[in-house]
Amino acid sequence: MENGNATGPKIYAFVNQKGGVGKTTSAVNVAASMARLGQKVMLVDLDAQANSTSSLGVDKYTVEGGTYQLLVDADADLAENTLFHQELGIYLVPSSPDLAGAEVELVNEEGREQRLLNAFKQGEDYDYILIDSPPSLSLLTINGLVAAEAVIIPVQCEYLALEGLGQLTQTINRIRSTINPSLSLRGLIMTMYDGRATLAREVVNEVRQFFPNNVFENIIPRNVRLAEAPSHGLPVTVYAPASSGAKAYENLTKELLMGDGVALAV
Ligand SMILES: Nc1ncnc2c1ncn2[C@@H]1O[C@H](COP(=O)(O)OP(=O)(O)O)[C@@H](O)[C@H]1O
Ligand SMILES: [Mg+2]
Repeated sequence: MENGNATGPKIYAFVNQKGGVGKTTSAVNVAASMARLGQKVMLVDLDAQANSTSSLGVDKYTVEGGTYQLLVDADADLAENTLFHQELGIYLVPSSPDLAGAEVELVNEEGREQRLLNAFKQGEDYDYILIDSPPSLSLLTINGLVAAEAVIIPVQCEYLALEGLGQLTQTINRIRSTINPSLSLRGLIMTMYDGRATLAREVVNEVRQFFPNNVFENIIPRNVRLAEAPSHGLPVTVYAPASSGAKAYENLTKELLMGDGVALAV
């Protein structure tokens, strides 16, 4: 598969090796908004904690197959490892605690960094594939970066927000110079913004200086509805559609789609 080919899906990996910065929240809510806007979207849960999976109301302990299967079995069928969420119109490749063992199982396997890329060759009819990565730069994250056309980096609006982004950029460059030359940076999402705090504004400015032209204009506010929604197994756009968090993710998704040249009905 040629990454970035005009007919295949756009594949974005949500990555930041820091935990708790909003990777899962962003992947889930962007996926839900994309589906509402008529895109055929697949969300791939690449974290053994399976937070995207549970955020969509799927019990991770009942999952059979899913991401684990796609990684450990080179012949795994993508459709067989995908769940369709009828109400949300999202396709989900779920994760399960098994995924924690995948790395060890793959350690001596040929092509272990390309498992996800190969599996996605069966997903040509999707508009978007969104990958939610674990908080590490492990083999799981590498599989996401190898399969992706571009990276989306959620950054929490807090002190030391930029810390670790140098290491992430190095990893991206290494993947680019080896397995996936076309890997690009799609953008940084500023998350958990508290408009009353001077620090939050300073952090946004600092990140914008560091990554000019790469920070999405729509900033995600700190909003309790975003934190509550996962325990109801729903994206915030369904759980609390009028909330500031839901509006922010909807607008961010529109910004993303329009930037990709997707025509949106008004
Ligand atoms: N904008 C936000 N406002 C309030 N809480 C948020 C927001 N974004 C994420 N959270 C909460 O913060 C925690 C970490 O977010 P999460 O998306 O799971 O981060 P990551 O996937 O990077 O570890 C979760 O409990 C989530 O519900
Ligand atoms: Mg997460």
